[in-house]
Amino acid sequence: MKNLGILLSGRGSNFEAIARNIQAGTIPARIAVVISNKEDAAGLSRANEMGLKSLFLPSKGKDRETYDREVVASLKEYQVDLVCLAGFMRVLSPYFVRAFPGRILNIHPALLPAFPGLDAQKQALDYGVQFTGCTVHVVDEGVDTGPIIRQAVVPIEAGDTVESLSARILTEEHRIYSEAIRLMLSGRVRIEGRRATFEP
Ligand code: GAR
Repeated sequence: MKNLGILLSGRGSNFEAIARNIQAGTIPARIAVVISNKEDAAGLSRANEMGLKSLFLPSKGKDRETYDREVVASLKEYQVDLVCLAGFMRVLSPYFVRAFPGRILNIHPALLPAFPGLDAQKQALDYGVQFTGCTVHVVDEGVDTGPIIRQAVVPIEAGDTVESLSARILTEEHRIYSEAIRLMLSGRVRIEGRRATFEP
């Protein structure tokens, strides 16, 4: 059984969707640890209620690599095989990325490479695109740049607000994040350059 490590900073709905799929037996893994850089993250209390190992690791006053060394040490302590960023609002240092090469996933609420960074749903609305969506990708040393494992398209509707659009994207996030984790754990993913292919 593979060990997942979840990193989050807020609500944690993606984490909960992953946890539900594990309970339902559709992801062959266990959540070994949930780590948050925010003490008041709702996702962290949920993890606690679910009886999962949950850790608040404060980042305040620490430089990026010092903090990342603490996080990596915890992930290693809990023997994490695959790290899942689930609304973890920090950029990872090269040290972190190299500690788990090809074994960190992130979910982003846009069709990358469009609208990386913060407020992706607002960026899409402001730009006036007719379709946006979400992306699960392997984390490399850039920001939202790694090889893409899964994407889903969400049409923008007349009268959409950041809230209404974000809610429809979130439904798709919950679906594709678990699909991507399943794929990664299956060992069927081959990554050549930027391109991921899937063995049958
Ligand atoms: C999700 O929409 C996720 O895609 C986004 O934060 C939200 C977290 O929601 N992540 C990013 O914007 C990363 N750049 P959640 O805490 O309910 O899973």
